[in-house]
Amino acid sequence: MKSGGVKRGRGEQPDDNLKREAGYYAAGMVEDGMVVGLGTGSTIAFAMERIAERIQEGLRIQGVPTSYQAEIRARDLAIPLTTLDDYPELDLTIDGADQVDGRLRLIKGRGAALTREKCVAAAAEELVIVVDESKIATLLSAPVPVEVIPFALRPVMLGIRALGGDPVLRQGIRKDGPVITDNGNFVLDCSFGTIEDPDRLEGLLSLMPGVLSCGLFCAFTDKTTVVVGKSDGCRELSR
Ligand code: 5RP
Repeated sequence: MKSGGVKRGRGEQPDDNLKREAGYYAAGMVEDGMVVGLGTGSTIAFAMERIAERIQEGLRIQGVPTSYQAEIRARDLAIPLTTLDDYPELDLTIDGADQVDGRLRLIKGRGAALTREKCVAAAAEELVIVVDESKIATLLSAPVPVEVIPFALRPVMLGIRALGGDPVLRQGIRKDGPVITDNGNFVLDCSFGTIEDPDRLEGLLSLMPGVLSCGLFCAFTDKTTVVVGKSDGCRELSR
């Protein structure tokens, strides 16, 4: 399917057209009656924009937002919302990613929403990831966000260094001091260089006491479709 007729709005970057292509394409995968996980970030925002248009045209869905950003955006767009309490199993989740490798393993969390994003991805029968071409890599190498409870900041930093990582406490913009996540925690951006074994690293990071979750998403590849926005349309990647 191709969205077609995608326009650029005021203040948008050239890349926004590719994000919009991907977002609109993914919005076309949503079916009537579905309960849909709604990811965080600028690419999924385009999917939500198109889902909202489809709701005006008669589509009936409910969304589970992965962050305050997603929740506020969904309310602005009049997308009906529900929770994992009411729907612990979702039909579909649409979300963005920071990097995708050849086996559809992901790095997520630039927006510090990684923990709720992972919960909602895990709950979904299908995971649709919307990206532009710049996010596709042979091997993962972007910094891995790690959400850590403030109490355990120093031991977790030591533990990450022992794994060969370089953890940097994420700082706020237009807020002095560290970023505080929607769950009240800190985020460490951890550079590991090229990650040879992302599954193993995800396991090791996730097991550290004080780590709530990490931005490696390696367990969902069987149910993942990556929609890549390109200048001439969209390409679907799945296993
Ligand atoms: C937020 C995320 C985002 O989905 C990811 O950073 C991609 O964002 P964007 O589509 O704006 O590039 O993981 O925590």
